[in-house]
Formats: sequence, C-alpha cells, structure tokens
Amino acid sequence: MGFDILKSRVIDILETQNIKHNEKLKLVCELLRNEVNHYDWVGFYFKNNDKEELVLEAFVGEPTEHTVIPFGKGICGQVAVSNKNFSVDDVGAQDNYIACSINVKSEIVIPLFVNAENIGQIDIDSHTIKAFNQADEDFLVWVNSEISKILS
Ligand code: SME
Repeated sequence: MGFDILKSRVIDILETQNIKHNEKLKLVCELLRNEVNHYDWVGFYFKNNDKEELVLEAFVGEPTEHTVIPFGKGICGQVAVSNKNFSVDDVGAQDNYIACSINVKSEIVIPLFVNAENIGQIDIDSHTIKAFNQADEDFLVWVNSEISKILS
C-alpha cells in the first residue's frame, strides 16, 4: 500500500470516535507494520511527565524489555535530546544503540512535537539493512504531525 493511501487510513483511525488515544496509537502501529513490508516493529515512546526518560506506550512487533529508556541512551534517547529525526542504516555501526532484537538491522526515530515541545517519538525497526529513505522520513513526520493534532 502506498503512502498516499496509508495517509487516508491513518486519518480514519485518528478521527474514530469513542476510542482512547493509546488505542488509536496501537491501531496506527498495526496499520503501518501490516502495510509496509520493511516495518517490522512499530512503536510510540513518550516522555514520562517530568522525568528525563521515555516510556513505551503502544507498539506492534516482538515484545521488548526496553519499555523505559533514559534520555540520551540509544537512538530513542538521543532523539529525545536532539529533537531531530534519526535514521540509522546499520544499527551494528552505532555505539549508542539499545538492541531490542538481533534481527533488527536498521531503525528510524522521528520526534513528535505538541506545541513545539518534543513529547515523544515514533520508532520503527527493520530486519532489512538501510531500509528507510526520505519518503519514509517524510511520511512519518506527517504521521506524527497528525497525531500531534489529537494530543494538543
Ligand atoms: N533501538 C532503540 C531501542 C528501542 S527498540 O528499537 C524497540 C534505541 O537504540 O533507542
């Protein structure tokens, strides 16, 4: 399924009435993982109130023990501090990386802003090396901007 069709499916989920935000996030994770071949694990981490740590709120894929990630640690923790998109072609070449599964070869993390504040992120792992390109990055920035609207 192309990103244009996926975008309208994301909007459908976010506009669904009478379901909680975290259920919507889970449905978005399922949609993305089911419809994009190179997305093998899809999850959303959010800042834990005033603590400098991220908490896993919704995901689809292999369960991970890394449900809490301190700021600065791993790809996710670095994005929490840098506020910048981070696409990793080869996770094996990263020093500051938290391995969730030996099957993961590449990863992309995109911060989620509400009122210009970095409150969380979408994290996607792939079993394919160098899986993510500019089209993925643009699409995921768009997904987060739409999610931001329901959270603000
Ligand atoms: N690899 C991430 C940790 C989260 S897992 O990918 C689910 C990182 O280095 O921050």
